[in-house]
Amino acid sequence: MLEVRASSDADEFGRAVYGIAQYFGGPLTEEQQSRFSKVLPFERMHAAFEGGQIVGGAGAFPFELSVPGGTLPCGGVTVVGVYPTHRRRGVLRAMMDTQLRDLHERGEPIAALWASEETIYGRFGYGIASWTGEIKLARVWNSFARPFERQGTVRLVTPEEGATIFPPVWNTLMAERPGVFQRTKEWWELRRLRMPDEEKANPRRFVALELDGSTQAYAIYRQFPEFDEGVSTARLEVLEAFGATPQATAEIWRFLLDIDWYATLDASLLPIDHPLFVLLANPRRLRFRMGDGLWVRLVDLGAALSGRAYNGEGSIVFEVRDAVCPWNEGRWKLDGGGASRTDAVADIALDVDALGSAYLGAVSFAQLRDGRRIEELQDGAVQQADALFGWRPLPWCPEIF
Ligand SMILES: CC(C)(COP(=O)(O)OP(=O)(O)OC[C@H]1O[C@@H](n2cnc3c(N)ncnc32)[C@H](O)[C@@H]1OP(=O)(O)O)[C@@H](O)C(=O)NCCC(=O)NCCS
Repeated sequence: MLEVRASSDADEFGRAVYGIAQYFGGPLTEEQQSRFSKVLPFERMHAAFEGGQIVGGAGAFPFELSVPGGTLPCGGVTVVGVYPTHRRRGVLRAMMDTQLRDLHERGEPIAALWASEETIYGRFGYGIASWTGEIKLARVWNSFARPFERQGTVRLVTPEEGATIFPPVWNTLMAERPGVFQRTKEWWELRRLRMPDEEKANPRRFVALELDGSTQAYAIYRQFPEFDEGVSTARLEVLEAFGATPQATAEIWRFLLDIDWYATLDASLLPIDHPLFVLLANPRRLRFRMGDGLWVRLVDLGAALSGRAYNGEGSIVFEVRDAVCPWNEGRWKLDGGGASRTDAVADIALDVDALGSAYLGAVSFAQLRDGRRIEELQDGAVQQADALFGWRPLPWCPEIF
């Protein structure tokens, strides 16, 4: 008999996390486990038991996620794994069911995750809600398209100082873009600024741009020196770089692009509307490779739809299918920015994962229709839905969790 419930102590927590850690090299050390449970409380780490043994686990960080026009509580689904001895016996399905019910009871209207494979989570109502990509830019192509007058100064800072001066810049990003989760103090310290043991020989660098008396941008990066027949083939890896203003964003990227000695600058998790595509003279040389980013699941459909902003006051009626969270099933009218149940004639019929895809504004209803994921029941309904849901700038989740 399979039972899924929240882990209740450090031992259960560790064995539940081992569901995924199996595939990443081994169980967490006591120290890793204690750190991890500071950002993922025991009660948010579900464990699957069979015959008294833990055979899988699924966690959900307590996030606040930016959505168009605001923020919402969000289950940040993470460390999902099933022991190889128990795969394909319904353990994941049982964990997803319990976790979604738990998030619903906690009043978290949405859940979000990064998928290890695109075929796993659609069946549980998650849809691709943002696109992201990576770049590999050869240093010779690092020029901007237009003359750029440098402003401010960039300085190396310690992680301790970063802990106080970086969060306001991140918070600006969160206010500007959907798809960004709030980083708590612990998150900053334990997951972004702390030096992992394996980096001790070549630690990440932290830099801040000071402009007009305040920190307006920062970057975290690493350098990997290498030579081939006396010529540098070094790699500069940008872990993150953000500016609070367009000038500050351009400044911090100019700083990174100008660093000596690297042959290739790598960065990942960039949105497709990143200013770099327009700043650079040769954007083709970024060799941008795009894929799926954040996946979103509407846990409480009414609260989720009512919790974001729209373009204008129009209305639209959805006929929603949701086999996993039946409380979402049925006909919903979005009107004046609020969603409620209705008996009115439906304009669009769709599975809940398609609505999750459209939710942050990255995937249009037109694309979903053309990709045969939704049914347009009334002429013009897709255009009307896109007019309401479309959002700029596009969602950007800059960190895999
Ligand atoms: C992916 C994983 C969690 C699936 O767990 P599981 O217990 O084997 O899955 P279930 O038996 O509950 O399967 C539920 C459904 O998902 C499908 N499914 C499971 N894993 C899948 C995969 N990797 N790709 C496609 N479909 C998958 C099953 O076929 C089943 O479909 P059905 O409902 O139509 O019958 C597990 O194999 C695992 O831990 N893999 C390695 C770690 C990993 O990828 N974790 C995900 C991190 S984001």
